[in-house]
Amino acid sequence: MSVAHYYETMEYGPALEADGEARAWLKRHGAVFGHFIGGKFVAPHSGKHLTTIEPATGKTLARIAQGSAAEVEAAVSAARTAQPLWVKLGGHGRARHLYALARMLQRHARLFAVLEAIDNGKPIRETRDLDVPLAARHFLYHAGWAQLQEREFADQVPIGVIGQIIPWNFPLLMLAWKIAPALAAGNTVVLKPAEFTSLTALLFAELAAEAGLPPGVLNVLTGDGATGALLVENPGVDKIAFTGSTEVGRLIRQSTAGSGKSLTLELGGKSPFIVFDDADIDGAVEGVVDAIWFNQGQVCCAGSRLLLQEGIADTFRGRLIRRMETLRVGMPLDKAIDMGAVVAPVQLERIKSLVETGVREGAEKYQAPAAIPAEGCFYPPTLLWNVHPSSTVAIEEIFGPVLVAMTFRTPDEAVMLANNTRYGLAASVWSETIGLALDIAPKLLAGVVWVNATNLFDASVGFGGYRESGFGREGGREGMHEYLKPKAWSGRKARAKALPPPAPTADSAGFGVPPIDRTAKLFVGGKQVRPDGNYSRAVLSPKGRHLGEVGEGNRKDIRNAVAAARAAEPWARATAHNRAQILYYLAENLSARRDEVALRIADMTGVPGAKARAEVGASIERLFSYGAWADKFEGNVHTPPLRGVALAMHEPIGVVGVACPDEAPLLGFVSLVAPLIAMGNRVVVVPSERHPLAATDFYQVLETSDVPAGVVNIVTGSRDDLVNVLAEHDDVDALWVFGSQEASASAERLSTGNLKRTLVDHGLLLDWYDRTACEGPILLRHAVQVKNIWIPYGD
Ligand code: NAI
Repeated sequence: MSVAHYYETMEYGPALEADGEARAWLKRHGAVFGHFIGGKFVAPHSGKHLTTIEPATGKTLARIAQGSAAEVEAAVSAARTAQPLWVKLGGHGRARHLYALARMLQRHARLFAVLEAIDNGKPIRETRDLDVPLAARHFLYHAGWAQLQEREFADQVPIGVIGQIIPWNFPLLMLAWKIAPALAAGNTVVLKPAEFTSLTALLFAELAAEAGLPPGVLNVLTGDGATGALLVENPGVDKIAFTGSTEVGRLIRQSTAGSGKSLTLELGGKSPFIVFDDADIDGAVEGVVDAIWFNQGQVCCAGSRLLLQEGIADTFRGRLIRRMETLRVGMPLDKAIDMGAVVAPVQLERIKSLVETGVREGAEKYQAPAAIPAEGCFYPPTLLWNVHPSSTVAIEEIFGPVLVAMTFRTPDEAVMLANNTRYGLAASVWSETIGLALDIAPKLLAGVVWVNATNLFDASVGFGGYRESGFGREGGREGMHEYLKPKAWSGRKARAKALPPPAPTADSAGFGVPPIDRTAKLFVGGKQVRPDGNYSRAVLSPKGRHLGEVGEGNRKDIRNAVAAARAAEPWARATAHNRAQILYYLAENLSARRDEVALRIADMTGVPGAKARAEVGASIERLFSYGAWADKFEGNVHTPPLRGVALAMHEPIGVVGVACPDEAPLLGFVSLVAPLIAMGNRVVVVPSERHPLAATDFYQVLETSDVPAGVVNIVTGSRDDLVNVLAEHDDVDALWVFGSQEASASAERLSTGNLKRTLVDHGLLLDWYDRTACEGPILLRHAVQVKNIWIPYGD
């Protein structure tokens, strides 16, 4: 072939990256790997191995160990032994180690990039330019948090031993996202990589040990889902951090329910990519390429639903198809390709079958004409046009290079379509009108929003979902909190089992004038309403004296209360100033009734009058505190090393169910409700079952304090039964349960339907008067979800 020929055709030749070093590493290990436990490779007890293939060729690459219960135990116990020593090393010591890991990754960048491309099938261009440098950045960034930890997180302590389970789409990067913050915070780790792609994790563990990471701090346990499940169930694990499918996320939520383990879940998505008619169309077309054909579309936050404003739809389609014609699919080690192989045959079959379903349901299919290698797991860049919002491919996560497109007319319709999904991981908004883009961003139910950009990631910016995309954040200050727990919550004692209620005593006034009968109703949608069942229950003093009656709420009452809370959505958009004023006003009106409420508390609980007055005083002060926090618990501006800033906004979670403890019936109620409403949530509260009258007296305080109808709803009755109804209700977004261990466990277990965020006390007592344990950011953090809005800024 002549130079002139190349000049004429401008064809790419193959530009293969050398893989000698990676193959030599595999050979050095005989292409068979044990687990990495306590600083060294350990052969599996059972001798059982899984085969890991090279997706681009279908050839066997290596065999990895299948972890058994005994090996999980060995890894957890190595991590347990190492943890106190790792903590003792102090922030600076850990910072040095994390810095060494970042440098180790940079030193071996090429080896990692090549091994990752071979093992996963993704293009070397991506592993070299994104996966590996970003993984190194995570260690460097978190070395910084380790260094600053004693000062910046002084009221927090590490959680302990963390079990981390990661998927196959970004094997090394997910490892970094998981272990860097965990180790920085003083935890030790047992990591289970995905069975398709464990090699870079094993290489990392080996090189980390060579770089001086002490034994047991990082353990890598390989195997399939069964090994993952054993890790989740192991009682020595204090927290599970999982990234993967929503189905498995649900299983993990269920199996950790009631165990006391913390949990973060980063799950699937079906993220919208919204293009308005005033967008830079060429820029947006390029954005689509990054959104859905990056990593063969195997990205949890892939912009897989293209929403186009009607006026530009045809133009956009034309330019997109033209761009698709230039995409190249080929061998992962070829530096000049856009897309490599999908990870495994099973994944390829799933993509093919979903695309067939899409076409059967009416979509028009366009595929890039790129030549596809005959062997291996390859699938061409694909566009499904004219997809109906209710079509399977518009709803299901395809996890492949398949874009589904639909149109909208108005911005409101765009928001409606964008949010018409059970997921909420990410969204991309394209418009040259800053006002429009920034009007849309807050309306999108997603943890990450990119304005005129897509798939931007950085260690300093939190990443994580809303709704069924999971909970918790990775990256940024917010991500560090996921690996720390409040010092003030350590050493809590278990709540004593509640004594049976006292026997009612006859309290005849003879022929004297009896006190006026009081039967408190429920408080729903700003009104006092009769319970649906028309039953009430007696409230007795500790000696059995009849103090009044409260409504016996049931499932229907909870449904009404949730509907009222949902309808009170404008509260989420009220200004923080407005919410602050109302909290102060609540304090003022409670103060006006302090003697009456104190008397009631003393009657119900039997505490001396002074103690009851102190409880009312503390409740007034707590309302003041949240009036103060309402406009001060603000978000952050992150400055990632890219052309832009990310606004980490504190958004309310939505409708939150709250179960209040019996101890401190007023202060407990106020301590839980006030942070939630301060942040713009609406609540359905089940007050103390034994002493509900403090909450029902609060109705009048609510009614006189300008709290909009539906923001606070109160349903009295059997607390545990009502909590279960809240846990199963799919329109409740989060659940806070302070009561028995059993109530905590069933709340966690029953909340898996829509993957509610839960905050439960596992039956452990809190001192509600202790401000360090029960007031401020410690609870406010659970009352918000962070949305990171990436905005182009500067040059
Ligand atoms: P998966 O959720 O089954 O696997 C992710 C990780 O969880 C792997 O390490 C796996 O071994 C482990 N695992 C599996 N079952 C487990 C269990 N019962 N307990 C504990 N750990 C368990 O994902 P899979 O099967 O690899 O992919 C299926 C679909 O999930 C994909 O087609 C895609 O739609 C979605 N997915 C989403 C990801 C995301 O980042 N959001 C990542 C990977 C897959």
